[in-house]
Amino acid sequence: MILGVNIDHVATVREARKTFEPDPVMAATLAILGGADGITIHLREDRRHAKDRDLRLLREVVHCELNLEMAATKEMIRIAIAVKPDMATLVPEKRQELTTEGGLDMVGQKKALKEAIKKLQDSGIPVSLFINPNIMDVDISKEIGADMVEIHTGVYANAKGKNQEKELHRVKEAIKVANRLGLLANAGHGLNYFNVKGIAAIEGIRGLYIGHSIISRAILVGIERAVREMKELILRG
Ligand code: PXP
Repeated sequence: MILGVNIDHVATVREARKTFEPDPVMAATLAILGGADGITIHLREDRRHAKDRDLRLLREVVHCELNLEMAATKEMIRIAIAVKPDMATLVPEKRQELTTEGGLDMVGQKKALKEAIKKLQDSGIPVSLFINPNIMDVDISKEIGADMVEIHTGVYANAKGKNQEKELHRVKEAIKVANRLGLLANAGHGLNYFNVKGIAAIEGIRGLYIGHSIISRAILVGIERAVREMKELILRG
């Protein structure tokens, strides 16, 4: 099972000061050294965290899987075709949301998604669809020609006890159906160091896509060293 690390939050911290640090491109190379099998970046319409420059540079330095998360808009399709990530994950996008809130509206967006998938695939980019864990959405993904699905694990991640078991079952069933239909099946959203085990144990998952919890832990495991290095500079001065 592969691990794709989403580095958007590194860009979010950079944009808090609109400066050069921390650089998500540097974070990506270190994540790869740590064993990441792929890097994910979500270039949003409003460019609130990742920028076009990040995507361009990532394409140069990421030699494992570069996954571009994107809305199925004309602008993003044009950018994807120019940059050629190793895969594109189509996600719903709302301006005011803190993070991607749910899977794609597969019924309402069916035609637009089908067209986007075709354009991306025609230029050699495999396409994954970020969908809620239900069978109908998996079926539609197959019908409109996706290569992969990424099953939304956010509800599972936030649920507790019996509800979490129920949600885990929904994810399992969606993965099973995706495999049966010949779709590659991924999962992601809200996975952390406490809840990842249940999902990682599911048979038939190709990869997990994780961002927030890894970047959060990176801040904590790195803070001691960062302070020590600053203290040394101050004491030497
Ligand atoms: N997969 C998709 C499609 C996402 O939109 C996100 C969040 O950007 C993730 C995975 C990663 O979610 P998290 O940051 O909660 O690990």
